Amino acid sequence: MTGLSGEATLNASPVCRVIQLSDTHLMRDPGGVLVGIDTDRSLAAVCRLIAQQSGIDALLLTGDLAGDESESAYSRLRDGLAALQVPSFWLPGNHDAPERRYAGFETHFKRHIRCPHWDILMLNTQRPGEVAGCLAEAELKFLASAVERSLSNRRPLLVATHHPLAGVGCQWLDEQVVRNGAEALSILEPLGERAVVISGHVHQETSQVHNGVRCFTVPSTCVQFAPGSQQFRVDDLAPGCRLLELYEDGRFETQVLRVADESFPVDCLSTGYA
Ligand SMILES: [Fe+2]
Repeated sequence: MTGLSGEATLNASPVCRVIQLSDTHLMRDPGGVLVGIDTDRSLAAVCRLIAQQSGIDALLLTGDLAGDESESAYSRLRDGLAALQVPSFWLPGNHDAPERRYAGFETHFKRHIRCPHWDILMLNTQRPGEVAGCLAEAELKFLASAVERSLSNRRPLLVATHHPLAGVGCQWLDEQVVRNGAEALSILEPLGERAVVISGHVHQETSQVHNGVRCFTVPSTCVQFAPGSQQFRVDDLAPGCRLLELYEDGRFETQVLRVADESFPVDCLSTGYA
């Protein structure tokens, strides 16, 4: 049971505008703190930022939705996003409950999302009891069939994961990326520029090309990690999200948006969190 199932169709304009949000780390109680940051408040600030964007068709949440697996975090997340009046689709990360069957949240945990000209595939890289990611055989099969379909119908494919498929240049985080990410990238390779991968987990903005496929990560909606760090190190950059504009002809544009109307001082001396 991966928790991701079913399909949603977006009633979007030909240029589909989606926002990736990640690593919200909402805690059991409102006002819960991660490395000095109130994760409810920082998510609210990112939501204000999203509300300023026009014509957003969907939100994609790439895992670590809850910081401590609590049910209440998912309810607050749903309620917090509701004001945006945009459909939101979620996938789990290592901090989310491993056995969670997402009762009551099924409309969010979809496997496939159909845009007018693009398809979106949500993959689960969560490995119960572990921080690092891995794609189970069933997830690789979903990926292989999505690639096959995309090759035959010429619709570009956006793949969303929690853990990145390859390292991002931070030694401590690179030990946690999808263990069999190279296999996933070779499955995606035939699509080349007609595939895009977006991931979370690393709490920082990166842009890389692997096997001819563009791969992005996104800032967290709360605390950020320092690029190029050998071991756990936080960064003082603002919370943010990623805007993707998916064009009819397979081109896309993307940019990271960061909160500027409120500051979130981080505990820079922190040496980690559970
Ligand atoms: Fe994570």
